[in-house]
Formats: sequence, structure tokens, C-alpha cells
Amino acid sequence: MSAPNSDYDPVEVTPLRADEVERMRDAALEAIAAADSVEALKQVKIDHVGDRSPLALANREIGALPPQARKEVGQRVGQARGAVNKALAERTAQVEAVEFERRLAEEAVDVTVPVDMEPVGARHPLTTIQDHVADIFVAMGWEIAEGPEVEAEWLNFDALNLGPDHPARTMMDTFWVAPAEAAMVLRTHTSPVQARTMLTRQPPIYIACPGRVFRTDEPDATHAPVFHQVEGLAIDEGLSMAHLKGTLDHLATAIYGEGTTTRFRPSYFPFTEPSAEVDLLCYVCHNDPAQVADCPTCRGEGWVEWGGCGVVNPRVLIACGVDPERYSGFAFGMGLDRTITSRYDIADLRDLWDGDIRFTEPFGIGL
Ligand code: DAH
Repeated sequence: MSAPNSDYDPVEVTPLRADEVERMRDAALEAIAAADSVEALKQVKIDHVGDRSPLALANREIGALPPQARKEVGQRVGQARGAVNKALAERTAQVEAVEFERRLAEEAVDVTVPVDMEPVGARHPLTTIQDHVADIFVAMGWEIAEGPEVEAEWLNFDALNLGPDHPARTMMDTFWVAPAEAAMVLRTHTSPVQARTMLTRQPPIYIACPGRVFRTDEPDATHAPVFHQVEGLAIDEGLSMAHLKGTLDHLATAIYGEGTTTRFRPSYFPFTEPSAEVDLLCYVCHNDPAQVADCPTCRGEGWVEWGGCGVVNPRVLIACGVDPERYSGFAFGMGLDRTITSRYDIADLRDLWDGDIRFTEPFGIGL
């Protein structure tokens, strides 16, 4: 330290005394060391480094000193401020690193922790069976066709050889759509899709059409005003009843499994000639004499009705613009709802359309 100065003694300027500068520096270093958050360090910076901090104020006093005293005092204050700034920078880096680590730890996501899964839901078994049946046909090279549920009377009936006075019309209790002059119905079967297809395309035609149909049946355990069918139509040169039987045997096996047996019974449909009804050997009792009498599925018949089929009536081909001299074909239609109820032992058909998810859930998303 320089010798006392007669006209201005720096030793007498309290904030600039060596011990005082040291005290201010130590106070600042202590506060820096004690600050354990970025927030606390901000305050320390204001208190010990900012414009109004003791060291900053002391620095300002230097200007008032006589020139010969400024150097030493300036160095003293400058070193103290340098030490404080350095300590502050180091501590800030330290505290920021710790806070960063803590945030990383706090915000870490443990992907192995078990979570409450939202229920995935389930597809309705009717949707699944329609898709499954469609897949079987696509695998045979057939196409999937669609038609509207509100259908022209002509396509639902007339084109299929069911003229206005045909007695078979009364077999299908029809929902008519108002106004009557519009001659529209809710389709009573998927067969109008046959007519639609033949009217718009040339053979060869191989189409399947799963879909919803409507009849004015009172709902009960075995009847519903809305049910589901799958329609098939093949038109080509040289097709016969034999091709029909082979196709249905394949379809039955694909749906019900290997070893499924079919049976054809002569029947009548206006749109096919000859016509047949096709049954499946009961897949529960297999017509086993020991069980058949008590079988709840076939009710003692040994066979379960599956659908109708036949060779397409030439009158239908003509109505739909197909040359019956060149082409022939076969068609079939079967209900899908019964496939579900019998396969899964569902006693009441109404379960299929009640909309209760407790019914659909066990089916999951596959079949
Ligand atoms: N459409 C008939 C029904 O709903 C089922 C049917 C029978 C469709 C014979 C056909 C067929 O294509 O050839 O009862």
C-alpha cells in the first residue's frame, strides 16, 4: 500500500480500505457459494455485481481519488470484482448443470411402466363374417359387388322373373318406400345385385354380394326385420349345376371347416331353373343316430338349412340383356345371421342387433 497522502488519504475512504474491499468480496463469494438455484444466483448478482452493489459503488469512488492513489486502489477493487465475477460464472454453470440433470430425471418417461389400456373395442361378428366370406370369394377370383338397400321394385322383383302378379312376391313381406308411385322397396334379398351386374357388364361374370336385406317380420328369437345374406352369381359359357355344387361345397368348407357336407333338395325360385335348397350336415350332431334326436341346432333333422340356389332362369338372362343361347350360369343366396347364431350357440337372434357391446366384445377384432 502507498504511503499516506497528505491532501487525500485513501485509507480514510472507508469503502476503499483493503479490509473493507476484502470483506465485500468475501461477502459476495459467500453468497455465491450459498446460492443453490439459478433464481437465487440472479438475486446474488443484483446484490453483489449489479450497479448498486457495494463493489460497484466502491469502484465509482476511485475516480474521486488523487491520481497517485488510483492505481493501487483500482487494482484492489478490480481484482475483487474479477474474483466475484469468476465465482459467479462458475457457480452459475454448476447450478445450471444440476438443474438440467434434475429436470431430465423428473421429466424422464419410463416406457416400461404398465399403463391402463383403453379397451380396444370389437368388430361386430356380422361385419367380420361378411369380410370373411368376401375373402373366400376373392380368393377364388370372384369380385365383390354392391347394390343399394333402397331398391327399385323392378330390380328386386320383375327383373328376377317375379312379375307383379307372381305368387312368390307374397313370400317376401316387403317394406314399400313412400310414395307408392316411386315403386321403390327396401330390398327383400340381395338378388337384385345380380340384375344390376348383368345390366351393366358383359359376361364372364363372377360376383358375390354380402349385404343387408329387409322383410316385415316381427322380431323374435329367430326372426328379424333386418338380416344379412350373401348372394353369388356366375355367368359364363358352359356353366352348369355341377359348377354350382362345387362352388357351394368349397364355400361351406371354407366357412364351417374341413369335412362339411352339403345336400341339395329340389325347390322353386322364380329366378332359377332348376332350383334347389342347400343344407349342411348338422355341424353339431353330424346326424349321428345317438344324438340327432336331441340336437338343439338341427332339431332332430340331422341337416341345417343353408340357402337357395339354382341355374339362372333364361328369362332373367333375357331381362338383363344376356344372351341365353351363348351364356348360362348359376346363382345362390344364403343367410349369414344364422351362420353366426348357430356357430356361436346364440339362442336369441336379437342379440345380433341390440347394440350391447358386452355381446360383441368377446368376438374381438377377428373371427
Ligand atoms: N333370394 C332368395 C331368398 O332371399 C335366395 C336365393 C335363392 C338366391 C336362389 C339366389 C338363388 O340367387 O339362386 O330367399
